[in-house]
Amino acid sequence: SGPELAAVVAAGTVDVPDFPKPGIVFKDLMPLFADGAAFRRVIDGILAHHRPDGRSDGFDVVAGVEARGFVVAAAVAYAAGCGVVPVRKAGKLPRKALSASYELEYGEATLEVHEDAFIAGQRVLVVDDVLATGGTAGAALELVERAGGTVAGFTVLMELAFLKGRERLSPRTVHALLTV
Ligand code: PRP
Repeated sequence: SGPELAAVVAAGTVDVPDFPKPGIVFKDLMPLFADGAAFRRVIDGILAHHRPDGRSDGFDVVAGVEARGFVVAAAVAYAAGCGVVPVRKAGKLPRKALSASYELEYGEATLEVHEDAFIAGQRVLVVDDVLATGGTAGAALELVERAGGTVAGFTVLMELAFLKGRERLSPRTVHALLTV
């Protein structure tokens, strides 16, 4: 259930004060990833939300945001039987790529995706571990759509509601297993 999944995410998260900068409390979900039973439950929870009847409705491919989003996205894609497209930080992709810059809670960054990463009209579920300000997810949205995909929605394990990332992504929908 929703409350059970939220508790699993909460139990697998460690708050790290003053990382990567003073004043930022970093949400470290690596203990959740490292716990096989917990990891399986959250991935199954994501699938149950987006494909409640088990049919391949809703999305055709998953996009994962470097780096912790890759962990979640690859598992979701495998469980859904679809492919995964990495959205990478600048300078990592070997072929012609589109770029989008964004403000992070702690600095600025650029994301990139291969220009031929999506088939025109493909419905893309964008996956990450944490939604904070929504800068990262907003840049991923821009890149997916410039590359010809259609964002079907966003899924994150944890949403930091006080940073209002969800509003930045409106009218696209965001599903979060845990909102804090
Ligand atoms: C974290 C997190 C999200 C992003 C959320 O990534 O994994 O991608 O920040 O923040 P936002 O909503 O304010 O943009 P980070 O940049 O720390 O990268 P990493 O996964 O490579 O450590």
